[in-house]
Amino acid sequence: MNTLVLSATLVAISLAPSLASATPEGDLAAFRSYFKQRFPTVPFNDYVNGVYALDKDRRAAWEEFESFSPPYEDAVALGKKLFHTPFANGKTYASCFHGNRGVRQNYPHFDAGSGKVITLEGAINACRSSNGEQPLGWKKGEIAALSAYMGFISRGKKIHVVVPNDERALAAYERGKHHFYAKRGQLNFSCADCHVYNAGNHIRADLLSPALGQVTHFPVWRKKWAAGDSSTTGGLGTLHRRYEGCNKQVRATPFKAQSDEYVSLEYFHTYMSNGLKVNAPGLRQ
Ligand code: HEC
Repeated sequence: MNTLVLSATLVAISLAPSLASATPEGDLAAFRSYFKQRFPTVPFNDYVNGVYALDKDRRAAWEEFESFSPPYEDAVALGKKLFHTPFANGKTYASCFHGNRGVRQNYPHFDAGSGKVITLEGAINACRSSNGEQPLGWKKGEIAALSAYMGFISRGKKIHVVVPNDERALAAYERGKHHFYAKRGQLNFSCADCHVYNAGNHIRADLLSPALGQVTHFPVWRKKWAAGDSSTTGGLGTLHRRYEGCNKQVRATPFKAQSDEYVSLEYFHTYMSNGLKVNAPGLRQ
C-alpha cells in the first residue's frame, strides 16, 4: 500500500471512470469494472464493508467490536420507538413508509410529481410536515436514529436507485456526478481523487475506502462523533454529515445538509452502489 501525501501527487489511471460516459447505466458499468480491476480479490458484495474490505487487521478488530453489543444498538432501539410513536394526529411514520417493510434501498427516490429527488431523511421530514409536526434537524439526533432503524430493518435488501428517463432526474444525477468528479477546496481534490483513484492508499493514518459501497451502511456510528457527544445518538451521523466532513478535509466550504447539491451527490453516489446490500447502520472510526 502506498502512502498518499496531501499534494498534487495523485495517481492517474487510464481505466478510471470519469465524466466521459454518457448514461447512468454506462457510468455504473464503468465504475464497477474499475474497482473489479483495481481490487481483483475483493468480492463485489464485500464493498459494503468499506475499508474493512481491504485490510485484514482492521477488519478483525472491527468484527469483534461489531459482534459484541455494537454501540449503535440503543440508537436503533430509540429509532424504532420514535417510528412507532403516534404524532399528535394519531398516525405514525408507518403511514408514510408502508409500515415496517424496510425501504432504505429505494432512496434517494425521484418523485415525478414534484420533479425532485428525495432522500430518506427528506422523506422522514416530509412525513412529519404532512402530519402537522415540526421537521427534525438533518445531520444527527432523532433523524439519524430513525434513519438507522429504517436502515436496520432494510438490511440485506439490495440498493435499487432508479434514474428514470426524465430530464429533471437526469439533471440531478449529472449534478451529483459533477460534484463527485470536480476538484474543490484549497487542496484541489475531488471525491474521486480520494475514493476512486486512491482507494486502498493511505492518507495520514487513514486508509481510503472505495466509493463503491460507501453509502450502504449510512447512517454511521463513528467513534470520533461519539467521543464528542455521549448521548444515545451521539455517535450517529447521516451521509450528509459525512459529506460535510469530507468537503472540509480539502478545505472547501461545505454545502448544507439536504441542499440540492448534496441530494444530487447522494443520488449519483447511491446509484453507483446499486445491487449491493443495505447493512446500515455501520460502525466506523
Ligand atoms: C482528501 C481525501 C478525501 C476526499 C477528497 C474525500 N474524502 Fe471521503 N473520506 C476520506 C477519509 C480519510 C475517510 C475515512 C476513511 C474511509 O472510510 O475512507 C473518508 C470517508 C468517507 C465516507 C465514509 C465511508 C464509510 O465507510 O463510512 C464517505 C461516504 C465519503 N468519505 C464520501 C466522500 C465524498 C462524497 C467526497 C467528495 C465530496 C469525499 N468523500 C471526499 C477522505 C476523503
